[in-house]
Amino acid sequence: MKNKKFTKLFGNSVTTKVFAPGRVNLIGEHTDYNNGLVFPVAIDKGTTVELAKRTDHHIKVISKDFNYEQVEFELGDTTYDHHNFWVNYVKGALLELQKLATINQGYNIFIYGNQPLGAGLSSSASLTVALVKAISESMDLKLEPVKAAECAQAIENNFLNCSCGLMDHAISAMGLRGHALKIDFDHFAVEPCVIPEPLTLLVVNSNVKRTLVGSEYNQRRIECEMAAQTMQLPSLRQANMDLLCEYQDRLSPKEFKRARHIISENNRVECLYNDLKAGNFKNIGRHMAASHISMRDDFEISIPEIDHLVEVIQTNIKTIGGARMTGGGFGGCVIALLNKDELQNVIQAIAKEYTPGAKIAPTIYDFKISDGAYASEYVINT
Ligand code: GLA
Repeated sequence: MKNKKFTKLFGNSVTTKVFAPGRVNLIGEHTDYNNGLVFPVAIDKGTTVELAKRTDHHIKVISKDFNYEQVEFELGDTTYDHHNFWVNYVKGALLELQKLATINQGYNIFIYGNQPLGAGLSSSASLTVALVKAISESMDLKLEPVKAAECAQAIENNFLNCSCGLMDHAISAMGLRGHALKIDFDHFAVEPCVIPEPLTLLVVNSNVKRTLVGSEYNQRRIECEMAAQTMQLPSLRQANMDLLCEYQDRLSPKEFKRARHIISENNRVECLYNDLKAGNFKNIGRHMAASHISMRDDFEISIPEIDHLVEVIQTNIKTIGGARMTGGGFGGCVIALLNKDELQNVIQAIAKEYTPGAKIAPTIYDFKISDGAYASEYVINT
């Protein structure tokens, strides 16, 4: 394997190269860590990890996207790096993989990506999945895609103090070109659904800097777990609206709303999946709009700029389709699923109706729905 840049940076040649994609979620937000349903797609942008083994126990990592910053440490060094935040993903990956097998030598690692960072498109999941696949392959450790995704998630849960669910890593590992995957986290079942003609995706980055994401995200997770506990359930997946109303007096108003979002959102994933499969495109707009309202009012993870962007898109879709915020929330991206013929009109409407009032201009992406890092290594019935 040749990469002149790698050889110039490290002196030896690349032996393993892995690309893992980012994602956009069509519907099913914050449901993954409640054992619920999600419906994401992998995109054609993500992170590449190149590596070569060393003869000593030294790790040397260079990140192109952080100005070619170079960090060096010894294998087994598990101290959190407060200065170079990004290198903690590498430390976490080595730590998690060492739980599965012995690593006998150091590495030279080069990391670069082509997806926007911090936009709610899961750049951290693409990085962790790429690291897990590249390092495990170099160790001759054969990981099943689900196991690799769980290992990638463990890096963030255990080393980065982020209580994220498994959705982002699962789709980055298992995504399928042209398909969205309905994933049921109750018993990890994956059902692909082709994005049918004449529909297409539109992803718009509000470019509003996401703040409080970490703390608010972890807080939402605690509130959901508290609600399930009060209802004497293992998770909110077992809840339904009748039970929720029965317990309303014993739940705090916040817990009640958080649980209502999760219960209704799981139902919307089923509805959107079934409608896409059956070609009932007229319902798409309703499901996506209800999801956005639920995220805004019950889960309280939207922001005014995103609400406005969603509204502009929704009002300019004249035939079939819908729009909603996608991802963890508090800024980031909006996703629309709409008729191809309307794409240009909607893009023009965003420039005309949203951009003049917005403090920051949005970015419109033309992502292709792509394969996950492990797509060629597992069989899924479509
Ligand atoms: C982030 C997390 C995911 C998921 C989404 C919200 O992307 O990493 O696990 O919870 O937020 O759906």
